Amino acid sequence: MSFIIAIDGPAGSGKGTVTKKVAERLGFINIDTGAMYRCVTLKALENGIDIDELEKLDNMLEKNLNIELKRQDSKQQVFLNQKDVTEKIRTPEVDEYVAKYAAIRIVRESINKKLKKMPELGNIIMEGRDIGTAVFPNADVKIYLDASVEERAKRRYKQDLEKGLKISYEEVLNSIIERHKLETEREMDPLRKAEDAIYIDSSNLSIDEVVDKICDIVNSKMK
Ligand code: DC
Repeated sequence: MSFIIAIDGPAGSGKGTVTKKVAERLGFINIDTGAMYRCVTLKALENGIDIDELEKLDNMLEKNLNIELKRQDSKQQVFLNQKDVTEKIRTPEVDEYVAKYAAIRIVRESINKKLKKMPELGNIIMEGRDIGTAVFPNADVKIYLDASVEERAKRRYKQDLEKGLKISYEEVLNSIIERHKLETEREMDPLRKAEDAIYIDSSNLSIDEVVDKICDIVNSKMK
């Protein structure tokens, strides 16, 4: 039986970086489920499929969507139908639409079906919004990682600047606030802390401090 760590939390809480480091330290497979919702969004935008065109979306999900998460030189790469879309799924355009596509029932059902098969690959650490509540409610360790909205916006803004994007702090802050509203208020699998998840506020913690905390929790549970 594989060991499952579920990490949930809002955008900018540090989930991505922390999950990658915990995976490296413990030798677990790291799965970024947000990247999968981003691939669906990218493909739908490329194909001009709107959020209310459910039949077309269903067809795209069934026939036209092969998502692979690969690790190369300690960097995660995302392939959509054999094409490297690692950068393309993180543009402001995808940022703007992803929460809308991720709220659609058939999109969630299709992604969840793929995610539920992943423990067959070995021990996994999976990060997202609904991993501890909907995808793996029986995960061995559940973490809810949070940070203040200002801190989350600051982190995203810094990442965007490093990527060379021309965007203001206010735009990033507004996009974070709007996405959070969509993610927490949607009907299907909204972002929320599972009752038995351990809450970590990373606002005033370094990445390594969060990684240490999670590894300690996992190690004591694995003993
Ligand atoms: O973690 P991220 O910002 O890359 O996630 C992109 C979007 O996907 C985000 O708006 C929330 C959504 N998402 C989701 O609804 N459920 C998940 N398990 C992961 C991401």
